[in-house]
Amino acid sequence: MAGGRFICIANVNGEICATDNVCPHWGGPLGQGRIEDGKLICPWHGWQFDLRTGETPRKAGIRLAIYKVTVIEEDIFLAL
Ligand code: FES
Repeated sequence: MAGGRFICIANVNGEICATDNVCPHWGGPLGQGRIEDGKLICPWHGWQFDLRTGETPRKAGIRLAIYKVTVIEEDIFLAL
């Protein structure tokens, strides 16, 4: 949790990505999902979110919040 939000942090081929942990569809726990080809897949209904843009092909106008990440040694900092 950071800034009052539940955050999903993922290591995608060595790049650390951070998003809201709450799926914008029906609130699924994105941190329990999986990643395929740079897409975060929600465990509840399988919606896919691009980890760079937050966009989903399932519904125009719905976007997952993506946070800028800075990694310094073993610490991860987010711009919320
Ligand atoms: S709650 Fe995530 S796809 Fe439905």
